[in-house]
Amino acid sequence: MPTVVAISGSPSELSKTNRVAEHVLAALAGDGAEVAHIRLRDLPAVPLLHGDSGHPAIASALATLEKADGVVLATPTYKAAYSGLLKAFLDLLPQFALSGKAVLPLATGGSVAHVLALDYGLRPVLQSLAPRHVVQSYFLLDSQLTLTEDAVVLEPDAARTLKDILDDFADAFRVARRATAVARSS
Ligand SMILES: Cc1cc2nc3c(=O)[nH]c(=O)nc-3n(C[C@H](O)[C@H](O)[C@H](O)COP(=O)(O)O)c2cc1C
Repeated sequence: MPTVVAISGSPSELSKTNRVAEHVLAALAGDGAEVAHIRLRDLPAVPLLHGDSGHPAIASALATLEKADGVVLATPTYKAAYSGLLKAFLDLLPQFALSGKAVLPLATGGSVAHVLALDYGLRPVLQSLAPRHVVQSYFLLDSQLTLTEDAVVLEPDAARTLKDILDDFADAFRVARRATAVARSS
């Protein structure tokens, strides 16, 4: 069974981004993936900021990432960039941490003026971590998202676009999984 981890990078307790990550994981689980969610706001702040990858909670997050075939990176847009919380986590990763994996970058934000933040700011960093494939990124306006008590509802257009992107992502992480299995057996 393919495994997918979402890493969500909002510091907010009531976060639209973190709910979008849950929404994505629920869809992928329904399609047969084993899923996990690393909410960076739940990691211990001092070890995270000190780059202490030996701390048990940080080590556990890194191990979950290492096992994944697919990685969803979900971030709020802050100051026209991805969040500092996500940056702190990315800075902990070894050079080829995304090797063999398919990656889906997602952002929420208040203004389409900053839709480029994902591809201009985050994508080059991801690329340097040697992923097998980074699929089409998607920026969701927070006006397209309505929080309910325990979920998020997407406007129909956004839901359709996200579904198409998830279909491509699911193809990509299945291909990545097969390629990793072949490489390990040869
Ligand atoms: C400190 C801060 C900076 C922000 N900067 C931007 C920005 O530059 N561009 C933008 O489109 N939205 C910006 N926003 C809006 C958030 O990206 C948006 O509300 C997002 O959906 C919040 O996600 P969250 O609920 O997961 O924290 C900012 C919000 C905060 C709190």
